[in-house]
Amino acid sequence: MEEVNVGIVGLGNVGSGTLAILAENADQIALKLGFRLRVAAVCSRSVQERAIPQAFAAARRTTNWRDLVTDPGVQIVAELVGGNGVAGDIIDAAIAHRKSVVTANKELMGSCGPEIWDRAIRAGINLAMEASVCGGIPIHAVLREGISGDRVTALHGILNGTSNYILTEMEKRGDPLDTILAEAQKLGYAEADPSADIDGFDARSKLALLAALAFGEKILPSDIFVEGIRRISPMDFRYAHTLEHTIRLVCTARQTHDGLILSVRPALIPQSTILASVQGAYNAVWVKGAFGQDTFYYGRGAGPKPTGVAVVSDLMRVAREIRFGSPERVSPFAHERLGEYKPVSVTLQKSAYYLRFRVSDRPGILALLAGILASKHISLESVLQEPCDTKHDLPFVITVEPTSEQSVCDAVAEMAQLDFLREPPLALPMETGL
Ligand SMILES: NC(=O)c1ccc[n+]([C@@H]2O[C@H](COP(=O)([O-])OP(=O)(O)OC[C@H]3O[C@@H](n4cnc5c(N)ncnc54)[C@H](OP(=O)(O)O)[C@@H]3O)[C@@H](O)[C@H]2O)c1
Repeated sequence: MEEVNVGIVGLGNVGSGTLAILAENADQIALKLGFRLRVAAVCSRSVQERAIPQAFAAARRTTNWRDLVTDPGVQIVAELVGGNGVAGDIIDAAIAHRKSVVTANKELMGSCGPEIWDRAIRAGINLAMEASVCGGIPIHAVLREGISGDRVTALHGILNGTSNYILTEMEKRGDPLDTILAEAQKLGYAEADPSADIDGFDARSKLALLAALAFGEKILPSDIFVEGIRRISPMDFRYAHTLEHTIRLVCTARQTHDGLILSVRPALIPQSTILASVQGAYNAVWVKGAFGQDTFYYGRGAGPKPTGVAVVSDLMRVAREIRFGSPERVSPFAHERLGEYKPVSVTLQKSAYYLRFRVSDRPGILALLAGILASKHISLESVLQEPCDTKHDLPFVITVEPTSEQSVCDAVAEMAQLDFLREPPLALPMETGL
């Protein structure tokens, strides 16, 4: 049985998970393919200290990725280094040497993936990137092939496991964000610099890629409105529960009359919606199609083995093509060519809103806030106030009927000037279309 030879650059979380699966699941993989995948070479800066499974003890070990990429014995290069730096050079060199590439790199594929695909096609090789978004959920395959016959109208996702872990722990235990974040950092669930996770940037890069596949437009992360979870506190969950909602960092791409509106932001979602049941570090993607209607995908968003499965499955797909040929390659972006995306402002969208205030109490506050809302033609829906001992830092919530985000932004900007507010109002959309 002739083998297909793989070279792996990067032996960190994903690289080591990939190697372990290739070794431990080798027989199953061979049964499915009809031939074996052999790891011919591995590379990382500290390759000599890395444990390589016995099955691949004969693999070439190098600290220089150029040795691996130019090795005539390597047919597919797995780029598992990450980032926008050397990873780009590795992929470019692999394409130049006419080797197919499997990558888990969302930054690189999000910023210049379509151009890399163009080069790959011209070189006659394949490029696969299933692991780049929602590690353990085969969402690329779904959008590229499984439901490619549909026309996607909306995509909602929980795409960052760390922020979802923090929010769901806050909801369960009532502890503040800082306490849960510190624990998550100790357990290794969150980075020392947590900004990418809790400020929404990681989720935004992932949404940019998924929206490109779903809607066929080249979307840059910077085109997407982003707001993180830093301002969410346990009291927001208590108020949300009173309203029969919960709070999640929701990634949304929605086709509207004005165009495709994209956002990553904390939002109130009904407790009854399936997205509300996504707990801990799990990810989920909900796709709405014009014809097939709703489909929902759920699983681990990261981790060596779940992400390793995505990498190995891509290696198998590409290896099959090397062995048996393929009459037609499917673009990893699900469209032969991506269109140019003209960003549409989230201020155009309409929604009900949750407005949470912290005030130094005095008579007439509610009348003043209601007056500002009325001046923007915003109708008040309800006022909620938990019992509170102190008058110096009194929280309460106003919910408003569906209105344009622009009106809410204008009202919040005006309210933020009021001297009795302890901080600017927190405004969260209440998602109803889920
Ligand atoms: N972690 C996850 O669960 C997850 C999930 C989905 C996608 N991803 C993506 O998967 C990719 C890898 O992530 P990771 O978490 O596995 O990263 P990681 O643990 O930091 O591993 C990176 C690896 O790349 C190697 N490396 C860095 N610079 C190199 C160079 N110049 N030459 C050779 N090797 C080099 C490192 O070598 P040394 O070991 O010698 O330092 C290390 O082995 C990223 O694109 C990430 O976004 C990760």
